[in-house]
Amino acid sequence: MKLPIVAYGDPILKKKAADIDQNYPALSTLIANMFETMYSANGVGLAAPQVGLSIRLFVIDISDDEDENLKDFKKTFINAQVLEETGKEWSFNEGCLSIPEIREDISRLDTIRISYYDENWVHHEETYNGLAARVIQHEYDHTEGRLFTDKLSPLKRAMLKRKLDAIAKGAIKVGYKMKFPAAPKKFKR
Ligand code: NI
Repeated sequence: MKLPIVAYGDPILKKKAADIDQNYPALSTLIANMFETMYSANGVGLAAPQVGLSIRLFVIDISDDEDENLKDFKKTFINAQVLEETGKEWSFNEGCLSIPEIREDISRLDTIRISYYDENWVHHEETYNGLAARVIQHEYDHTEGRLFTDKLSPLKRAMLKRKLDAIAKGAIKVGYKMKFPAAPKKFKR
């Protein structure tokens, strides 16, 4: 089942999400729904706060990338904690399903070490770099209540303000179902 994606401006996107445990209700259905929602919006990653749930869960599929090393990279991250970020800063043009039609070059360190549980509650501690690290960092930030727009300079953000306000109000065309925090209320009879 496709879930509506929460748009920029919703307070849930600014909130630090909580850990879950194995008793979380219908977790495998939620994970399946998140993948389905992500694919239908042509995304490569989706975090639970983006579907209105303030929990530490995100999914990523970058197996379509031309990089052979990523051909099996379809993963679920539960209760993830970034342990270390190292290496060089590099710039990558990021987008976000909660912020349609805005893409910006964002600078981040190229290597991360992360601890997480997968969908079978197997614990992992792994190191990633390049594109994999980048997508994980972006999705992980969602579970910390951070958006890529938080990393822009104040000037850049001021330049985007009108576009961001339009997204919050739902005054945009988007090819997937969204929930807009500042959408005008429907006229009541
Ligand atoms: Ni995002």
